[in-house]
Amino acid sequence: MRLAIIGDIHKAWDDADAAYFNASDYDALLFVGDLPGRTHRGTLDVARGMSAVNKPALFLPGNHDGVSMMQLLAELQQNRSRIEKKSRGQEQLCAELDAALGAIRMCGYSRHTLTSGSTVIDVVAARPHSMGGDRLAYAPYLERTFGIGSMADSAARILDCIRACENPILILAHNGPTGLGGERNSIWGCDFRKEAGDFGDPDLRMALDQARVENCPVLGVVAGHMHLHVRGLPDRDWCVRQDNLTFVNAARVPRIFKLEGERVHHHIRMTIQAESVQVAEVLISDAGRVIRESAPAQPMNN
Ligand SMILES: [Fe+2]
Ligand SMILES: [Fe+2]
Repeated sequence: MRLAIIGDIHKAWDDADAAYFNASDYDALLFVGDLPGRTHRGTLDVARGMSAVNKPALFLPGNHDGVSMMQLLAELQQNRSRIEKKSRGQEQLCAELDAALGAIRMCGYSRHTLTSGSTVIDVVAARPHSMGGDRLAYAPYLERTFGIGSMADSAARILDCIRACENPILILAHNGPTGLGGERNSIWGCDFRKEAGDFGDPDLRMALDQARVENCPVLGVVAGHMHLHVRGLPDRDWCVRQDNLTFVNAARVPRIFKLEGERVHHHIRMTIQAESVQVAEVLISDAGRVIRESAPAQPMNN
């Protein structure tokens, strides 16, 4: 099974992307969220552009897939009453987003089966709109829509989805789990505080740890959110391996950029065969030609 993982788009999506993926031999596309730019405008335009994709595709909303910039500021200030006020309209935005995405499935706390020949996997979509760290972002909306009131609730819901799977499991999240490093440029490390620290999602870690105890066949996690470029340091590793699981951070932002004078489009290719997972970072030209393909820094040993 061949999957394309598309990291934080932040407006970097155009017709060349849709044309490339439609002509490709990918079985499915996984979008990790964050469609608009800094001002939070253009979310629906990006979604309409994505809807040209004719492969099975899943979209897990990120922290930027919200109503307004003010809402995100309220989240950053951790002001509950302002978050409450500014999150009004989130349901409507999600409904509009769902419509704009066409056949691409909006997901969150949900389970989706993908098939390619004899290979079948279940994708578990984790908590939508994650902002990283130990605070539940979009709390009023998560409560209203999913009945999730705490990290523990969220972990339990993700675990319920995992337990319901009957095939090898890939987890789609906006942000990765805790437990993968606390340096500024660790795969989900905090680069905006002087003291750095682990900025992964604790609920996802709790679910993964319990899934391991219960021998659930989790292959790995694909996510984004913590952009790979970190000021003043080498980029984050985009793939790490732990306990035989593969963790991918696909957030190369901007995902369309110039490489030696040529415009290139970024995504991660994941190949799953039996329970073996291989990944590569792929750069495609506007014309759909592979410009560069890189293996992860850490060897893939399964
Ligand atoms: Fe992002
Ligand atoms: Fe994000």
